Amino acid sequence: MARRMGSEEWATAALAEIAAAKTVADVEALRVQYLGRQGRVTRELRAMAGLPPDERRARGAVLNACKADIEQALAQQREVLTRAEQAQRLEAERLDMTLPGVPPAWGTMHPITRVRRRLADVMVRLGFTIRTGPELETEWYNFEALNMPAEHPAREMHDTFYLEAPYVLRTHTSPFQIRAMREAGGELPLRVATLGFTYRRDDDATHTPQFMQMEGLVVDRGIGLPDLKGVVLAVVRDVFGPTERVRLRPSFFPFTEPSAEVDMSCPLCLGAGCRVCHTGWIEVLGSGLVHPRVLEAGGYDPREVSGFAFGWGVERVAMLLYGLDELRPLYQNDVRFLQAFDAWGAW
Ligand code: PHE
Repeated sequence: MARRMGSEEWATAALAEIAAAKTVADVEALRVQYLGRQGRVTRELRAMAGLPPDERRARGAVLNACKADIEQALAQQREVLTRAEQAQRLEAERLDMTLPGVPPAWGTMHPITRVRRRLADVMVRLGFTIRTGPELETEWYNFEALNMPAEHPAREMHDTFYLEAPYVLRTHTSPFQIRAMREAGGELPLRVATLGFTYRRDDDATHTPQFMQMEGLVVDRGIGLPDLKGVVLAVVRDVFGPTERVRLRPSFFPFTEPSAEVDMSCPLCLGAGCRVCHTGWIEVLGSGLVHPRVLEAGGYDPREVSGFAFGWGVERVAMLLYGLDELRPLYQNDVRFLQAFDAWGAW
């Protein structure tokens, strides 16, 4: 190489400089310095123009050899440095694929949500339409229209949160009966259900001030207690199991006549009698045939149609279903408690 380049010391120095370049950017700077439009090689080639032909040929050969060697040196050094830089980056940005990942925080379906979905699902399969109603009700919908005038003693069982008149936080989902009937405008049959929060001034191990109820209502010609019992039995069996039994026990609600409390055979002892139920029966819901005055408030003629309604607490269903003896943990958001319900899978 030195022979081909003759005694061009600048070219020998250029090769040394290129070999010493530390970065690809340095190599590029050297390329400009030697081969660029103002570069040394370019200038030397241009300077040949004034030489006599013989000398020009000889000089041209030398300069072309210099140029070729410099180009080759540049290419080689560029390649070496590019590889080194790549290797360095790979090392610096290395990912350890064998490290365990950060487990995502999985949520679980809240037990109330599970039960709510399950209840809504069985109601829909029984032909009911699910509706919602406001939690902020008027006294008229929550009480008066349900045959509970202002001084009625039954109101005492519903001690509630009164807001600026005429509003109350609804004490039960029953006002939905009136709303559903009025919306239906006399249409038959009416088969509606609702699920939603209700409020009462209760707070102990098995009562929270905010709780959820599910309620069903049917209005049609010739509806009687057997219809009520059939639907309630279907719901209870769907949720708790096919061998459950139910019984209707006379009771009182101002908005149903007759009224019945529905007991189901205790799911814990299967009706044998245990520490929880004592008698083999567990009270699960309130029900009855819709009171004529309630039908009237809903825009139906009680001489032509009749209906039944039933309502129960969703938390209570969850307690019985999951064997809880306290209701409050359902609303305390302790993930350990909530994760325990994963065992129920698709529920
Ligand atoms: N609303 C009643 C309660 O909250 C339950 C009920 C609903 C009773 C429908 C009869 C008919 O206790």
